[in-house]
Amino acid sequence: MKVYIEKDALAVAQKALSLIKNQITKKADSRICFATGSTPLDLYKLLIEDYQKGKIDFSKMVTFNLDEYLGLDLKNEHSYHYFMDHNLFNHINVKRENINFPDVKKYEKEHQNGSYEQVIEKLGGIDFTILGIGENGHIAFNEPGSQEQDITRVVDLTESTINANKRFFASEKDVPRKAVTMGIGTILKSKKIMLLATGPKKAQAIYDTLLKPVSSNCPASFLQNHKDVTIIVDELSAKLIKNKI
Ligand code: F6R
Repeated sequence: MKVYIEKDALAVAQKALSLIKNQITKKADSRICFATGSTPLDLYKLLIEDYQKGKIDFSKMVTFNLDEYLGLDLKNEHSYHYFMDHNLFNHINVKRENINFPDVKKYEKEHQNGSYEQVIEKLGGIDFTILGIGENGHIAFNEPGSQEQDITRVVDLTESTINANKRFFASEKDVPRKAVTMGIGTILKSKKIMLLATGPKKAQAIYDTLLKPVSSNCPASFLQNHKDVTIIVDELSAKLIKNKI
């Protein structure tokens, strides 16, 4: 895994921007998988700025998202559909028909495990995936205990994730308890993976991801088994790995 330690969150976003621009410049019809959460927000702002300056064209890009809550209307301001529209998609020239999410209704009613994988495969697979990381080492909603072969499925959120995500909701009881998430196996099929982390709360998870043996206790550690992963972290989240990598 390639690791870049940047001075702060903005520098992390700038480095991430350069990697995505490189990808889209080389292949305009790149199939890119996006994450929600606070970490990629600076990156999405920079992508919008570059688009407004005419430096980047998203008209051929195909998008996927990692996950979505269960039990929220897709127009609800806490849904990941809403998040992506408001923080990125509404501000760039991505085509609506090129935006893909797991079909929450299908998963909710029929537990159609694997149907998202069929969509991804039909569209040619994912070229580049953007990941954040949870304090407990989760990627997407693959909580500790997830397995390397897991595909897209309905999962229960752990107390740690409910706690971390309650900041976006009026109260903890409003945080959905279930989500649909790409599995670790789905994520590992992406040709390139870029994981971003900022802030001291992510330091232990970054240490476990990079320096501990691969284990389902830290789902992000499965990334060690992928051949093209770039990890971009700020000084604060790198405090336990400094001088050790
Ligand atoms: C979001 C996602 C999550 C977040 C993670 C970190 O689509 O899949 O795994 O990346 O929970 O969230 P933040 O960035 O808010 O700390």
